[in-house]
Amino acid sequence: MRIDVFTLVPHAFAWLTEQRPVANLLGGELELRLINYRDSTPLRAGQVDDEPYGGGAGMVLRVDVVAAGLDAAYGGVPSHRIVALTPQGRQLTQEVVEELAREERLTLLSARFEGFDERVAIHLASDAISIGPYVLSGGELPAMVMLDAIARRLPGALAEESGVLESFSPELDGGLEYPHYTRPSEFRGWRVPEVLLSGDHRRIDEWRKEQSRLRSSAP
Ligand SMILES: C[S@@+](CC[C@H](N)C(=O)[O-])C[C@H]1O[C@@H](n2cnc3c(N)ncnc32)[C@H](O)[C@@H]1O
Repeated sequence: MRIDVFTLVPHAFAWLTEQRPVANLLGGELELRLINYRDSTPLRAGQVDDEPYGGGAGMVLRVDVVAAGLDAAYGGVPSHRIVALTPQGRQLTQEVVEELAREERLTLLSARFEGFDERVAIHLASDAISIGPYVLSGGELPAMVMLDAIARRLPGALAEESGVLESFSPELDGGLEYPHYTRPSEFRGWRVPEVLLSGDHRRIDEWRKEQSRLRSSAP
């Protein structure tokens, strides 16, 4: 899969690209390009934003700047999916992650300041996604959230089993994962559930399914 991220802060992604699973996939299943709007802005002195028409606080990422970025990268608006990251988009869920992970190519547009000129969403992007109902200062964290979530779904990202039985997976009927415990089996009087120490894998499977069901039905 090839993912291009348009950003004003490409160096913000350094940490993510050094971490698994993204680090493992780069150069193989995942090709990642970080594209700075300032590198192709048609404006002087690296300008990318401007004051909002009608007045008001903050600056707006210009449509001609985003279009110039797409022109430089693709020679126009490409036919693959272009996602504008915005709190006003459809909400990111595991289902949306699975949908995006099936794409061969994907472009993420992030903004800063007050956000995009609305014409970006209308004419340049083909999708708009929010990572949650709150406002962050820029699209870099949302882009990284999406990159990490998508990367986990690509072949070879995870040890086979750990990517299968996870919260929101079909194997758990879309519910939450069961609790995990590790050594010590007792700490400050807090004991690991006896069933997990029993070695009886049928009982352990049943207990885990039941725990998943209980957690998923909790209000
Ligand atoms: C300060 S926010 C702009 C918020 C916008 N003025 C609003 O009220 O909807 C700047 C940029 O950060 C990114 N951003 C912030 N919160 C986000 C979220 N929950 N999901 C996706 N992107 C977000 C978007 O790219 C957004 O354009």
